[in-house]
Amino acid sequence: MRIAMLGLGSVGKGIARAILEQDLGLSLTAVADSKSGRIEPSGIDIASMLEQKERTGMCGTPGVGAADILASDAYDILIEVSPTNAETGEPALGYIREALSRGMSVVTSNKGPVALDYQSLHLLAKEHGAYLRYEATVCGAIPIMHTIESGLAGNTITKLYGVFNGTCNYILTRMAEEGLTYQQALLEARELGYAEADPTYDVKGIDAAIKLVILANAVWGMEKTLDDVEITGIDGVTTAAIALAEEQDLTIRLIGEIIPAEDVLRVSPRIIPKSHPLVVEETLNAVAIDTEMAGEITLIGKGAGSLETASAVISDLLFIRDCHGRRS
Ligand SMILES: NC(=O)c1ccc[n+]([C@@H]2O[C@H](COP(=O)([O-])OP(=O)(O)OC[C@H]3O[C@@H](n4cnc5c(N)ncnc54)[C@H](OP(=O)(O)O)[C@@H]3O)[C@@H](O)[C@H]2O)c1
Repeated sequence: MRIAMLGLGSVGKGIARAILEQDLGLSLTAVADSKSGRIEPSGIDIASMLEQKERTGMCGTPGVGAADILASDAYDILIEVSPTNAETGEPALGYIREALSRGMSVVTSNKGPVALDYQSLHLLAKEHGAYLRYEATVCGAIPIMHTIESGLAGNTITKLYGVFNGTCNYILTRMAEEGLTYQQALLEARELGYAEADPTYDVKGIDAAIKLVILANAVWGMEKTLDDVEITGIDGVTTAAIALAEEQDLTIRLIGEIIPAEDVLRVSPRIIPKSHPLVVEETLNAVAIDTEMAGEITLIGKGAGSLETASAVISDLLFIRDCHGRRS
């Protein structure tokens, strides 16, 4: 199966390495980053491309870009792993639309396009006999979409709630463990590379809310947008509040929840028992899925990271290849 990939950053490199190191039956035939690209229908030498990217910052030839790749005949599936734009989804949204319109399936880790335009992308894929898969957009390595659609097939999902943002979880963990203030813990998270220079999306709960929108639309077919989510971030959580909770064997976590029967989508800091399965440490993510038959299932894992996120992308690629055959 021939793969084109837009983006060769942390996630893209993890995917390239997984394809290089494992015998997955996948051939990388086209790659672009922000400044260059290459199209090699017989298969790219991944090791030498990664070495060139490391040395020059470019994966291929300047002047070759996403548009050339999308219009080419060199791929069966597009992997879209360029930066997220939560306001417009662009340019990734346009890339995904273009590939689907050509009947090519798409796998993405990019939250923007899926959160902003799920319904129309879904319809476009259906219209053109293609697949759109986005496991990596919610909780990195945790196979939440696969678990719901396959492992829990036949179950009604009555509620879904969890820890969707590793940066916030790290900050809250450190405030509880060391008695750090919010600002001190945020600084530490920045120094360790867990928080962006501008952490607004994470600490204000917006990143977690975007993931809820994706889940609500994908799992329940709701037509939600970010405006439908009640959002409170962790920037108002005090050391005193955490200490008070700790005295009673409780702690604080930023919890995102979807309760479809009540039409609730909410992100807020919550006081929960320390023994609760969602009380995971540091940058981990955790999701609890309430179902009618299976009861409650909790998944815990890494919400970010190069290979971890690549794992989710690869599982989507293999889903398309193995379960439903090639459609091109
Ligand atoms: N990192 C994670 O753990 C993680 C987890 C879940 C989801 N995600 C999502 O996955 C996506 C990729 O994340 P990342 O961490 O790999 O980001 P990243 O390290 O910033 O890499 C982004 C890549 O996209 C390239 N790019 C930028 N504009 C482009 C364009 N117009 N056409 C083609 N390529 C373009 C960049 O090129 P240059 O190399 O030239 O700059 C870079 O190679 C993002 O949407 C992110 O939100 C990431």
